[in-house]
Amino acid sequence: MSMRKKLVIAIDGPAGAGKSTLAARLAQKLGYINLESGAMYRALALKALASGVGLEDEAALLALAQGSRIELQPASDGNRVRLDGRDVSQRIREPDVTDAASKLSVHPGVRAWMVARQREMGAQGGIIMEGRDIGTKVFPDAEVKIFLDAAPEVRGDRRFRQKPDGSLPPEAVIAELRERDRRDRTRAASPLVPAPDAVIIDSTDMTIDEVMARAEAITAARQKQKAATH
Ligand code: DC
Repeated sequence: MSMRKKLVIAIDGPAGAGKSTLAARLAQKLGYINLESGAMYRALALKALASGVGLEDEAALLALAQGSRIELQPASDGNRVRLDGRDVSQRIREPDVTDAASKLSVHPGVRAWMVARQREMGAQGGIIMEGRDIGTKVFPDAEVKIFLDAAPEVRGDRRFRQKPDGSLPPEAVIAELRERDRRDRTRAASPLVPAPDAVIIDSTDMTIDEVMARAEAITAARQKQKAATH
């Protein structure tokens, strides 16, 4: 019988650091499920925009969340996202939703609702969840915590290459990332910070294969430790 325990792996970091790519590849390798917590904030943001709920109105946003069904379905290239049964995977990546998600994620009540849903999703272990507060708030006991970072210029450049739709020049993409970073890092509720026990990987000068190798090594070491202590 395999002694391999199903772990919880938390990957946090700023936008464009490569979290989703790493999470998807690691999940495929380990046979785990990868869950993008940011997609949940995005889905709620889309609903708020569509229903005219103000992004400052915490009570109304919370009520909106409570009446919503947000489902994440792992796929090889990320998550398919369903909002109240409708596939919104593409729509939630648009700039207006990106901006709205960043704004509504400052509210403690909204965050508490999200965290509760995310804990339910990860209760069985064998998951990789990525976001901003996974290692600090959602799964503070996660066996593996990775904080993936990279210089803003590099993150902006990667984002631009992912979606060179021509509508935004690279400088605008970098400016948008910096603004979201500022909001994520300075908000009072669960700001983006590495957990004290997170391994920080700065991927500025690394390829995805190198990042993957680091993450695999960290995970293998933890699996071994767990097997030894049962
Ligand atoms: O990871 P992402 O870019 O899809 O996240 C969208 C927004 O959601 C991001 O600006 C901050 C917020 N977010 C958060 O506050 N906490 C998380 N765990 C994940 C995302």
